[in-house]
Amino acid sequence: MYHRSFVSIPVVLLAASLAWACSGDGTGPGGGSGNNPPPDTASTTPPVTLRSRAEAHDLYVGSAAATGLNRGDAAYADTLAAEFDMVTPENAMKFDATHPQPGLYTFAAGDTIVAFAEKNGMKVRGHTLVWQNQLPDWVRNGTWTKQSLSDTLKAHIQNVVGHYKGKIHAWDVVNEPFNGDGTLQSNIFLQTIGPDYIELAFRWAHEADPDAKLYLNEYGAEDMGTKSDSLYALVSRLKADGVPIDGVGMQMHLATQYGAPSTTDLAANMKRLGDLGLKVEITEMDVRTAVPTTADGVAKQVQMYRDVVGACRAASNCDAIVFWGFTDKYSWVPSTFTGQGAALLYDASYHRKETFAAVLDALQ
Ligand code: XIL
Repeated sequence: MYHRSFVSIPVVLLAASLAWACSGDGTGPGGGSGNNPPPDTASTTPPVTLRSRAEAHDLYVGSAAATGLNRGDAAYADTLAAEFDMVTPENAMKFDATHPQPGLYTFAAGDTIVAFAEKNGMKVRGHTLVWQNQLPDWVRNGTWTKQSLSDTLKAHIQNVVGHYKGKIHAWDVVNEPFNGDGTLQSNIFLQTIGPDYIELAFRWAHEADPDAKLYLNEYGAEDMGTKSDSLYALVSRLKADGVPIDGVGMQMHLATQYGAPSTTDLAANMKRLGDLGLKVEITEMDVRTAVPTTADGVAKQVQMYRDVVGACRAASNCDAIVFWGFTDKYSWVPSTFTGQGAALLYDASYHRKETFAAVLDALQ
């Protein structure tokens, strides 16, 4: 099916041909020498890319993008545009980035990513409106009443969603609201507004952009268990109460030392959400492993990527797979998990890794 965004084919092809020429791993369409003119778009079959494979199955394939789209790293921008048809700003739309001082909104970094997406026929996942992390001090350590924090959160959500109205495919409205034991995270919003902060956030976001899909995004709730049961109970109640929620984001930050959720669990969890009328998107996938990598670690990564992409493809309500970056050159993993890395699809020199081949194959 080619109903999605093929307006930008010439740009994509040009960018893709550059990426093939750079990657030189033999999986490309051949002939991508830098001395040759770009392919004749009228008579050439589009190259096989992650996005062309995904589009053929009515799926989106995306990547988080660091603000470093303007790092002047041409290979970064070219590869992102060639291979992906969805992008999530990694940090640029978070509370501390968009609303650093009371009443001061800064959208330049997010705007750069949205403009890049528009130019390259990509959808944007907005990330994220309500989260206990990357929250500026004036919010985290402010003196609040229930009314004043509600007013502030509503203004934040409606200004940010309003600024990007019509440009965002889906918003992660609430991010990581649960603890591992299935209770709600005790953040400033829960403490001050109470558990209703979640449904209020969805209602406020919907008022500001009725066409954006609205998601609750969580990690560690991909398999069947305490945390995903609590999440399921919450979203069941939201749906029953008519709260405008469209889907659940499964972050999918995985590690070879723990393995992937079983494909049976993934299928069951996606299905029960689907039965409520909810979509599922894989929103932040990466698979970290001990570095330097071993053959065993890489083999595990390959299998885990295959399993998760396969689970999304098999679930009728799973419509996007977004990775938390694509090159190991820019990944949150090494600075966050000591001794871990190599979590993505490309190495730091933009060579496709075995994980790339696994994802491309699983999308076939
Ligand atoms: C991470 C970013 O990748 C880092 O650059 C930043 O320093 C911290 O946040 N779950 C999320 C993402 O929802 O927003 C986080 O992103 C990774 C975990």
